[in-house]
Amino acid sequence: MRRTVIVSALALALAFAATTALAADGKTLYTAKCQSCHGADGTKSIMSKPVKGMKAEAVVTAMEGYKAKTYGGSKKATMENLAAQMSSEDIKAVAAYIGKL
Ligand code: HEC
Repeated sequence: MRRTVIVSALALALAFAATTALAADGKTLYTAKCQSCHGADGTKSIMSKPVKGMKAEAVVTAMEGYKAKTYGGSKKATMENLAAQMSSEDIKAVAAYIGKL
């Protein structure tokens, strides 16, 4: 009995997490997918180029370009793979967040 309750609670928590992830919140996306290389404030440049200071539109142009393989420099393969997994909605959401960093 007790076990069932725990399992149901876990299933609910997982379902909730999945729904939240689908909601494409820019900050959540950035924290999960971008922060490790670009840094919490977008200034990290050891692994990548800093994204702080980019306008949201410029981020969209870059990300859509990586997705279409028409943008980028010598290290673009990483970003091409990432962008390929993102919908245009996700890109817009994360770009809006970066635009405000
Ligand atoms: C594994 C490390 C890594 C992760 C994770 C990562 N990036 Fe990058 N990013 C890079 C590298 C490396 C470059 C430079 C690529 C090149 O040579 O074009 C870059 C470049 C960029 C640029 C272009 C900057 C410019 O000045 O042209 C943007 C925009 C960008 N990343 C956004 C993002 C976003 C948004 C995410 C999360 C969805 C993300 N990155 C996740 C490594 C990463």
